[in-house]
Amino acid sequence: MSQPYRIAVINDKGGVGKTTTSVLLAVALARQSGKRVAIENTDGQGSSVRWISRLVAAGESPGKLGLCLYDARRKRAVWAKATHQSATSLDVVLVEDKDRDDAPEIIVTDTPPAEGRRNDYASLPADLFVIPLLLSSEDMNVALGTLQSLRVAFGKGVDARLLFNRVKSGSSDMRDIKAFRQQTKVPAFDAVLFDSRAIARAQVLGWTALTRAGASAPVKAVADEVIAIIGGASK
Ligand SMILES: Nc1ncnc2c1ncn2[C@@H]1O[C@H](COP(=O)(O)OP(=O)(O)OP(=O)(O)O)[C@@H](O)[C@H]1O
Ligand SMILES: [Mg+2]
Repeated sequence: MSQPYRIAVINDKGGVGKTTTSVLLAVALARQSGKRVAIENTDGQGSSVRWISRLVAAGESPGKLGLCLYDARRKRAVWAKATHQSATSLDVVLVEDKDRDDAPEIIVTDTPPAEGRRNDYASLPADLFVIPLLLSSEDMNVALGTLQSLRVAFGKGVDARLLFNRVKSGSSDMRDIKAFRQQTKVPAFDAVLFDSRAIARAQVLGWTALTRAGASAPVKAVADEVIAIIGGASK
């Protein structure tokens, strides 16, 4: 059996959108690639469990979508199904689906900021590193530092790309990003995530809230780029 394609969402800086990007990208990949996608948490906060619960609460079936959790300790996918959903809240109780144990084809790993990881890059091998960042000089420097650390740990050929997050539409942000990319020649996604209440709310309310607000296009565009990268890698 071939190994799953691993995507790690990483940045030494906290609060730049790692968790937001991981969960939204995992759902978009499951929807668009037709592959089985697992979300893995290394931050110990269990946010992926909460996220899967929210999809169920929003009326989606993660298993049908091809989305599951990845248990790094047991090195296996955990397909979850809901046993109980409260009518008054978004709380869903998940249990493991014993009838299902398909291996994931893509694993998306959400990572903690540097403090939690103690700069231990080498312990987190991935086929693709996605580095979400905000558009400020400090954030850009930390993101470039993260990229540099990944190159030290995995060699210059490592596939690590910046993903600009919380970009303000109708501002000079897009022009600044273009200039930054031309100056630094750093690999980056062409698609950017806009600063939007819908994206912030989607982390809490689930994917449906994002589509309802008509704000899913940038996330879908990032997923399309990732699918093209995976396609290129398997040739
Ligand atoms: N594109 C966006 N538009 C609006 N808000 C966003 C966007 N991306 C992230 N946020 C908000 O920014 C905050 C931080 O995001 P998130 O938790 O994903 O960052 P993180 O990098 O995982 O943080 P940590 O380092 O603490 O794990 C959250 O409140 C989230 O809702
Ligand atoms: Mg996080």
